[in-house]
Amino acid sequence: MNRLRLGILISGAGTNMEALVRACTAPDYPADPVLVISNRPNAEGLEKAQALGVSSLAIDHKAFGEDRKAFESKIDAALTGVGVEIIALAGFMRVLTPWFVERWAGRLVNIHPSLLPKYPGLHTHKRAIEAGDAEHGCTVHWVTVGVDQGAPIDQARVPIEAGDTPDMLAARVQRAEHQLYPKALAKACATLKARI
Ligand code: GAR
Repeated sequence: MNRLRLGILISGAGTNMEALVRACTAPDYPADPVLVISNRPNAEGLEKAQALGVSSLAIDHKAFGEDRKAFESKIDAALTGVGVEIIALAGFMRVLTPWFVERWAGRLVNIHPSLLPKYPGLHTHKRAIEAGDAEHGCTVHWVTVGVDQGAPIDQARVPIEAGDTPDMLAARVQRAEHQLYPKALAKACATLKARI
């Protein structure tokens, strides 16, 4: 089976990256992880990638100051250099410029910790609790220029329990993310393959 070459961008712990890489070990999974990039050189996820046997690389956004295009050009070159065909953002905490997003349109997906269109942006768990919502969750979506606005691919829901703190809820959402992301990325791969 023709597997798509997958690049994964992270900024932190990389637990979603790990879930994706583990899913890719199934012989019938439609993607193969070829490169993990972190914009934070000390991200825990970089060591995880190494332990999982996936090439990894830090490209520190701070080295580029305000020049976001230069930072993203470096990421783009690293990805294209190893023939990446689809990118999964997995806790990548930099907003990408229209230049990068348009370059990778239809080949770029993200996981966001809310039931979009509810709660785009930051502090989603706190906002869901404060709003008195009964449920919360996560969304995998195509990335478009509007932050957290792209078409959803799939969602997972979790209950909000009485007495939940944002951290407790975040942990519940993350467990759901690890189930959802591999499934949704497989869907995205099928959509992309049907197009190319
Ligand atoms: C995940 O919960 C992901 O949904 C969130 O960051 C976390 C990364 O965890 N992403 C965003 O907030 C993007 N706006 P991980 O590094 O352990 O995968």
